[in-house]
Amino acid sequence: MLRGFWYPALPSAAIRGRAVRTTTLLGLPLVLGRTTEGQPWALEDACPHRGMPLSAGTFDGREVECCYHGWRFEPVSGQCRTIPSLAAGARLRVDRLFARALPAAEADGSVWVHVPEPEAGDEARPPVPRLPVFGRRYRITHLSVDIPCGVDHGVIGLIDPAHGPFVHASWFWRRRDSIHEKARVIEPIEEGFRIQGHAPSANSAPYKLLKVYRQPVVTTIEFTLPSTRIETIRCGAYWFSSRAVVTPVRTGESRIDFCAAWNVFRSVPFFVSIFRAFAKVFLGQDRDVIVRQAVGLRHAPHMTLIDDADRPAKWYFELKAALLEARRTGGPMKHPIPEPVTLRWRS
Ligand code: FES
Ligand SMILES: [Fe+2]
Repeated sequence: MLRGFWYPALPSAAIRGRAVRTTTLLGLPLVLGRTTEGQPWALEDACPHRGMPLSAGTFDGREVECCYHGWRFEPVSGQCRTIPSLAAGARLRVDRLFARALPAAEADGSVWVHVPEPEAGDEARPPVPRLPVFGRRYRITHLSVDIPCGVDHGVIGLIDPAHGPFVHASWFWRRRDSIHEKARVIEPIEEGFRIQGHAPSANSAPYKLLKVYRQPVVTTIEFTLPSTRIETIRCGAYWFSSRAVVTPVRTGESRIDFCAAWNVFRSVPFFVSIFRAFAKVFLGQDRDVIVRQAVGLRHAPHMTLIDDADRPAKWYFELKAALLEARRTGGPMKHPIPEPVTLRWRS
């Protein structure tokens, strides 16, 4: 599980009024809320006094009060404001005590939390990730599924090109016997790689719908650390953009947070609902196969990653190792893909 990145914590709409919500990221229990001004905040869900979950206390829109001894905290900074048990003249500097606050920010309908590296100070953080959009008017939707595996198996499932005909075989996506050879040019990008723009798979039914626009369709897929896959489809002035993040919850537990935006088929009634129904089936297929795989993974079996179909999975492990090495040495990250390469597989 990689620290030092932003992760989607909860849907924006789930954090309303003075209610607080809990979640877990990278094994860290969190409590989230929103100030009266609407600013999201995230605290480690443990009081710095004696560890009571702060989510068991109360929040009045300005301060969080622990339910055990009533210590009060400003939640954006985590700074302690009040310790009710202190006698007059007590020398303890209350304002030097902090609940552990994590940076929280809102983007594309989610509240994101930056999980810092253990030793990190308050140095510059990258901006919150944004879903690429190509215009001002678009629809956006979100879906999440819990998956019973660690982030690594989630990621390699996400970037695995070979499971489509077996896991996603269905009338609306593709037929199993439509498997054929594909060649894709992959280029290195910062902390990841990109499948260069190509015409989408001829055996994927949803892409065929775009033919109504009578324009060439170009799709681009990229993966970046820690665990993000972004696919954009452009068709003249029309576009569709999606992002899947494998969010590490704790060891052996993750979530796929999926977000899509588009300006296609705006005149089709109920297109958002139709799209969500299909996306749910699709993500459900990925979850079901991981649920079954988890039985085998319990015994930490040996993996056999083959070329070229599992090359993206190998790159993922190499990128991760290169990032950790760069952090360890303080030097630049040595990219495992020196130049664009062509991969061939059947799917
Ligand atoms: S444990 Fe929170 S105030 Fe004592
Ligand atoms: Fe899949």
